Amino acid sequence: MDNMQKVSLFTVRGYGSSRRYQLATGVLGLLSAALLMAVIAMATQMNGVCESQSSLNITAVQSELKLLRDERVRLTESRTSLQHDYDKARADRSLLQAQVDREKAMSDRLLAQIKTLEEQKKQENVRVLQLVRSCERCPPGWEVVNDTCYYFPISSGIQRKGWDDARADCIRQGGDLAIVDTLQKQTFIVGVLKALHSEGFSYRYGFWIGLKRKDEEQGTWHWTNGSLLGTGYWMDGEPNDDYGYEDCTASYPTVNILKSWNDAPCRHPLKWICEKEATAAS
Ligand code: BGC
Ligand code: CA
Repeated sequence: MDNMQKVSLFTVRGYGSSRRYQLATGVLGLLSAALLMAVIAMATQMNGVCESQSSLNITAVQSELKLLRDERVRLTESRTSLQHDYDKARADRSLLQAQVDREKAMSDRLLAQIKTLEEQKKQENVRVLQLVRSCERCPPGWEVVNDTCYYFPISSGIQRKGWDDARADCIRQGGDLAIVDTLQKQTFIVGVLKALHSEGFSYRYGFWIGLKRKDEEQGTWHWTNGSLLGTGYWMDGEPNDDYGYEDCTASYPTVNILKSWNDAPCRHPLKWICEKEATAAS
């Protein structure tokens, strides 16, 4: 009986429990299925999202890459163009520098010429002033120094003469052969002779001055005004009375202006220097 009861109880209780278990199992099964489906759905969705995200990323990267490549091409072109401009600018600068150098050299030459011309102009002004003063105080073709007019027959048309004929020409013009009795006169005269014969010294370039040896007075030297020679500006070794007939004196364009005289034969054909008193200065 007890067994029966137990069985029965158990059976009743077991019957009732089985139903609940079955129900619970069914519900659980359903829930599990739903959960599984939800998980699958979510997984599928997630996968789609990832896939679309990754495909989005690749496109963006590719487009960024393209942009960068384009930019690189553009920058390379720009660099080439800039390099070209730079090379051209350097070449232009070299050309300009060469031009500047040439123009500076030309400017230096012109400045030197201007300086020379200014110097010449100064000398010309002095010469013009001297000429004006000469014109006022001496005949045309004569030069004035202090109160004396000097004449140098420099024209090539004028023949050389012996000392006597040269003196006669000076007298005919109202003067006489030059008396060179001061250092100032000597300096002036040799300066003129050197300007006339810048090629240098030659015995052909002698100019008679008014100094003559008087054999009758022990060979002493006298000026044309009768005065005895004081200081003489003889060349070295002169007067030497070469061959015993050199009684007249000529001045030459020597380097040393204090040694420009030589005694020469009076018949020697040379140029000459006249002098006469200048008219009073106004
Ligand atoms: C002499 C001079 C001389 C001259 C005459 C020269 O060789 O050295 O003393 O007066 O010749 O032309
Ligand atoms: Ca001599």
